[in-house]
Amino acid sequence: MVDRTAGHGEPGPDEEVVVARLRAAGCVFAEDEARLLLEAATGSDLAALVARRADGEPLEQVLGWAAFDGLRLVVEPGVFVPRRRTQLLVRLADAALAGAGPDDAVPVVVELCCGVGAVAAALLRRRRRLDVVAADLDPVAVRCARRNLGERATVVGGDLFAELPARLRGRVDVLVANAPYVPTAAIATMPPEARLHESVLALDGGADGLDLHRRIAAGATEWLSPTGTLLIETSERQAGATAALFAAVGLVTAVERADDLDATAVSATRLRPDLLVRRAEWSATVPGPGGKDDS
Ligand SMILES: C[S@@+](CC[C@H](N)C(=O)[O-])C[C@H]1O[C@@H](n2cnc3c(N)ncnc32)[C@H](O)[C@@H]1O
Repeated sequence: MVDRTAGHGEPGPDEEVVVARLRAAGCVFAEDEARLLLEAATGSDLAALVARRADGEPLEQVLGWAAFDGLRLVVEPGVFVPRRRTQLLVRLADAALAGAGPDDAVPVVVELCCGVGAVAAALLRRRRRLDVVAADLDPVAVRCARRNLGERATVVGGDLFAELPARLRGRVDVLVANAPYVPTAAIATMPPEARLHESVLALDGGADGLDLHRRIAAGATEWLSPTGTLLIETSERQAGATAALFAAVGLVTAVERADDLDATAVSATRLRPDLLVRRAEWSATVPGPGGKDDS
């Protein structure tokens, strides 16, 4: 047995004790979690972390960081812990940025409901030149996002679009959001880690889960550039309804799915009459059913 003595001079629990405590508390990955906790602290500090975890606090909030898309992001108690499935938004945003705007312009990305800024941080890691603004209503999330995004982004505290810089109106190449989408009544059925330790503001999407999606749809076209793309996380069950909200404000929508992440999102872009004309011209040159090549 290893004798782990704290910086404070008090002996801490050793690995076997930590694993046993976590397993008794119902942690499925007790060994992995114990290893991370033992790396994070010693002595009485370690004992305190183990007690918090055994009490049901999410591991990420106990450690103070979450892994996301190859990054370690600061996560304070009470904020939403970034989920693996949200990497779908990163993939989609990165693909949209590949075709965004003129080559010499710095693409503009806005992350609404940014939480700790996971999507923005992942995009900044992938792309050198981005003008990023992230926004959240929760001051703790804003503080985490500022720490995670540093000098390369502006993080504002406020309701959805309310505090975005006016200079971005009509200029946003990618507007991305993982806004709350859990129907209010379903929060009671969520795992205690989320229900008891993440702010209700981060989860509650209103009666049908779509209140925030509705409000984002109402504001999106004012901020998107003419070729901009909106990307929003949703559930497989709600995807049709989320897409319909964006279609209702005149956007062309698609439901995006990544089975490897068990993730669903809706993408939405403006209707581009120029592209429609080009498509119509193109179809006129291609023989359709009954054309000569069909014989
Ligand atoms: C589901 S969490 C997602 C956080 C982050 N996007 C992520 O994926 O890790 C939703 C976030 O929306 C924020 N939020 C809820 N209502 C908001 C509002 N009206 N305006 C801005 N942010 C809001 C919450 O504080 C929370 O951080």
